[in-house]
Amino acid sequence: MRSRGLDLEMTGWYQVAWSGEIGPEQVVPLRYLGRDLVAYRGKDGVVRVHDRYCRHLGASLAHGGCVVDDGLRCPFHGWVWGPDGRNVSIPYQGRPNKAGRLHTWTTVERNESIYIWFDPAGREPYWDVPDMLAHTPQAASRQFHPAWPDGRAFYPDLHTHPRIVIENAVDLHHFRFIHHTAMTPILLEQRTEGPLWWTRAGFGRGWAKHPYDADGEVRSDTMSTIEIFWTGLGVSMNVEHTAAGVRVVSINVTPVEDERCALFATYWIDRNPGDLEDGTYQRRLAEAKALLPGDIDIWKHQIYVESPVLATEEGALFRRLRRWTAQFYPGHTPEPAAGGPSPTTASA
Ligand code: FES
Ligand SMILES: [Fe+2]
Repeated sequence: MRSRGLDLEMTGWYQVAWSGEIGPEQVVPLRYLGRDLVAYRGKDGVVRVHDRYCRHLGASLAHGGCVVDDGLRCPFHGWVWGPDGRNVSIPYQGRPNKAGRLHTWTTVERNESIYIWFDPAGREPYWDVPDMLAHTPQAASRQFHPAWPDGRAFYPDLHTHPRIVIENAVDLHHFRFIHHTAMTPILLEQRTEGPLWWTRAGFGRGWAKHPYDADGEVRSDTMSTIEIFWTGLGVSMNVEHTAAGVRVVSINVTPVEDERCALFATYWIDRNPGDLEDGTYQRRLAEAKALLPGDIDIWKHQIYVESPVLATEEGALFRRLRRWTAQFYPGHTPEPAAGGPSPTTASA
């Protein structure tokens, strides 16, 4: 249904796997962004992603291809394609064919996840995927349980689109209805820095009554808050600070075809002594994972309304978000990153 006007051609980073799904020297087929891809972990431990079909005669490198010292060997005639997509050897000819090159996707492995960069205009990445456990002070000061293998949920085939899901970043009024919170969260702060969107909201009566410090500044404490970050349309993280501790939840939507997306949800729960043995970790993880299905039940049947009828207080925020998302569509130039902290953090 192209009638909804949704498409696949949006600049940004997109999750295509969890790290644990691509073991040493493993080769896996992927299909994202309307393309057939192959991912493999080389002998050097680095994950690489290419277009799937051999430039020689089109065999699938993901079905029978194997990792060799200098790249990925095709099962059909044994040509080897190097990490940059160049042909490095032909078994029955003394020299490689330098003309053909397999398309290579810029790939980052971070946050126990594999991301690829996509830009319809072919530009190099102009922002980085943040290190989600080091991106905010309250997360950086804690230790977390690894998300792999239990702290994740995968929805491979959803009838939705990143621009529907991203509106969660400004939709404070769904919390009472979908997540059954006692109150609507209070929007405390919102800012953008180039490709980064940041919202901070406070939950509960304390925030409703006292959102400001004595000096009139927005209260700086982090209890009962949620910070919502989006970097592009594909990658997000929520940092939630409740009485039980801090949890970081990444909800990443990757288009597969027009109107079909995969959703990767990853959950990191902060670690406390004995919390595995006494079941606290498992309980907190289950609580965190219980929230998303409510959103998904809406998203998978929802349409994108180009001109929504909004409540007065929603208008400015939704319009701002939609203006910001426009930068990721073809024909728009990226918003310059403002001064101040950059969404880019150290490489993992
Ligand atoms: S099709 Fe891959 S080597 Fe021939
Ligand atoms: Fe939600």
